[in-house]
Amino acid sequence: MYKVLVEPGTSTYNIYIENGLINKIGSLLQKDFSGEKIVIITDSNVEKLYGDKLMDILSNSGYTVKTITVPAGEQSKSIKQLEHIYNQLTALDINRSNMIIAFGGGVIGDLAGFAASTYLRGIPYVQIPTTLLAQVDSSIGGKTGVNLKSGKNLVGSFYQPQAVFIDPELLSTLPQEHWSNGMAEVIKYGAIKDKELFHMLMNSRDYSDLQQNLEQVILKCVTIKKELVEEDEKDTGVRMLLNFGHTLGHVIENYFEYSLYTHGEAVAIGMCVITHNSEKMGLTTLSTYSKLVEICKKYKLPFEMPKMDIQKIREIIRLDKKFSDKNANLIVLSDIGNSYIHKATANTVLSYFGI
Ligand code: GLY
Repeated sequence: MYKVLVEPGTSTYNIYIENGLINKIGSLLQKDFSGEKIVIITDSNVEKLYGDKLMDILSNSGYTVKTITVPAGEQSKSIKQLEHIYNQLTALDINRSNMIIAFGGGVIGDLAGFAASTYLRGIPYVQIPTTLLAQVDSSIGGKTGVNLKSGKNLVGSFYQPQAVFIDPELLSTLPQEHWSNGMAEVIKYGAIKDKELFHMLMNSRDYSDLQQNLEQVILKCVTIKKELVEEDEKDTGVRMLLNFGHTLGHVIENYFEYSLYTHGEAVAIGMCVITHNSEKMGLTTLSTYSKLVEICKKYKLPFEMPKMDIQKIREIIRLDKKFSDKNANLIVLSDIGNSYIHKATANTVLSYFGI
């Protein structure tokens, strides 16, 4: 079992990584949590696949366990579901000596984490991520929140979990679209900070080849994230490197109303397009773009800018709160494994997208 200590400043916690880890969760939890009652917050898909299993493991370790299930999907990251969770927590008599387990992908991690950070002004929670994206990224670092009708992640908090339990075997039931979603983030880690990881991904033949080394791949990603979060918990400096490919990615997701491209596909296009243009501008070492394209092809991710109407893109950027102060922090690669924050204005940002 790998154990990674995260010390962001406001708290200290461990990330545990091991195939089959879910079977040990009862005994591991006992080290961090002395309470009796646990509430699992999960979604309808995960509950069907693994709900009974987790419930049995925790009950056998002596915990009283309750479950709150929300519908699977981004729609659940809402004030409405949050209120539903608060009402259930009250009905179950949950207090600060109890614990929440966020058991699911990024939506559940953010939603349950935000419920934990605000219910009774904060109760302990742990993350058991069940998608690749959540295992390598969103379960670590304490970002929690919900969407509003006017935009994604507009309400939230930084609230660190007590522990993160990563069991790569839980990914064996993951649909293909979730693999590409997470894979874009894995490629991102290699591109911004870890040349060796990037080469490891290049040297794997395909997804199934990579799955043989999944524990190590996840370990490399979470170690990079741990270092960035420790240096910049509140996302005002180096943590922003994690946004590589995300600025254009968010524009693409928004333009196609979150239906044509998954988050990972949009980020893959974002990483390639900005690198193509930063290379032309002399900001990035030549041939970095072609390496990114090669890796995206290998993992069946798109890399070309789709046809989009420029006026509509301008409108999305105008309404995007990230650009409201007239400056956008774009993440640019100097080469594979090295990245930096590059300031652009709302007026010049389109040139980095080749528009
Ligand atoms: N997912 C990016 C971050 O946690 O900062």
